[in-house]
Amino acid sequence: MNTGKDVYILGIESSCDETAASVVKNGREILSNTVLSQIDIHRLYGGVVPEIASRNHVEVIDKVVQTALGDARVTLDDLDAVAVTYGAGLVGALLVGVSYAKGLCQASGLPLVAVNHIEGHICANYLTYGDLQPPYTCLLTSGGHTAIVRVLDYTRYDVRCSTVDDAVGEAFDKVARVLGLPYPGGPQIDKLAQIGNPVYKFHSVVTSNGNFSYSGLKTAVINLLHNGAQRGENINAADVAASFTRAAIDGLIDRLHQETALGEVRTVAIAGGVGANSYLRCRMKEFERDGLRVCMPQLSLCGDNAAMIASRGYYSYIEGDFADGTLNACPTLRLRGERPRK
Ligand code: KG4
Ligand code: ZN
Repeated sequence: MNTGKDVYILGIESSCDETAASVVKNGREILSNTVLSQIDIHRLYGGVVPEIASRNHVEVIDKVVQTALGDARVTLDDLDAVAVTYGAGLVGALLVGVSYAKGLCQASGLPLVAVNHIEGHICANYLTYGDLQPPYTCLLTSGGHTAIVRVLDYTRYDVRCSTVDDAVGEAFDKVARVLGLPYPGGPQIDKLAQIGNPVYKFHSVVTSNGNFSYSGLKTAVINLLHNGAQRGENINAADVAASFTRAAIDGLIDRLHQETALGEVRTVAIAGGVGANSYLRCRMKEFERDGLRVCMPQLSLCGDNAAMIASRGYYSYIEGDFADGTLNACPTLRLRGERPRK
């Protein structure tokens, strides 16, 4: 499929509470990147309400796609394919993007490419580092997934370890909620942690067999706050945020050190919404001191966006790996080798 000509992919993303579309050239160059967030709506409810998310996607998806095409100064005739997230995520939300993309391909004759959202997050690195090539090792930290993944090539992955229960982003959001912080909690905890001291010690999130577990950490924070309240103690929220952040991130970094100590790794990368966390980004610099290359997507590409979907779509496109009209949403889609969650 690689004919040497430039390839323009329209990416579409609607797996959660962002409706996004983007045009990316050759998997690397962002020509447009439109993200319409529903955060303000869901904040009223303290988290994403799936039905409201789907309805909002339906209302704005066409406008978002038209904006992305306009910003990139292209028309459908200039495109080579449409790439759409088909999992993992909220089923109703995913269905909006999948149905829209199928309709667009049916009407325009463009080929359809199905993209795993998590693989998209990994590809955000290619949009920030034009020269990055596999193999490398990626620490994947999002609202629904937590894993260390060996990226073997652009479309093949080896999951080294993953969470056995909650994802790290989910833990950030839940702890933020018990601290009374607004949704989404991750960025709020990040801010609060910067003015707190990590005075509370929590168990490691690394399990005895080298996977991750976040449900115990979440419960430990809730117990700390409840027991403190019962004893009438004044527990400083910033100290809790700082202590939780360290526990949540230190285990990931420790486990990544174990991987890099195996000696085959020359580059480490991060991916997913928690990749925006300032403490995580700071600790990643340790790997530079070990002589490794450290890749961290720019902040605007850590969270959900469609440029990363278009980038991942490009690599399926050049392999000739296309979907058809039978494509369906797959809410529980995982990377091959990733543990099914409890
Ligand atoms: O990757 P993402 O945008 O969506 C999923 O695919 O799940 O990740 C969203 C998660 C949320 O849990 C959010 O609270 C968290 O990323 N997050 C952060 C930060 N920014 C976003 N967590 C910690 N620190 C941040 N600065
Ligand atoms: Zn995501």
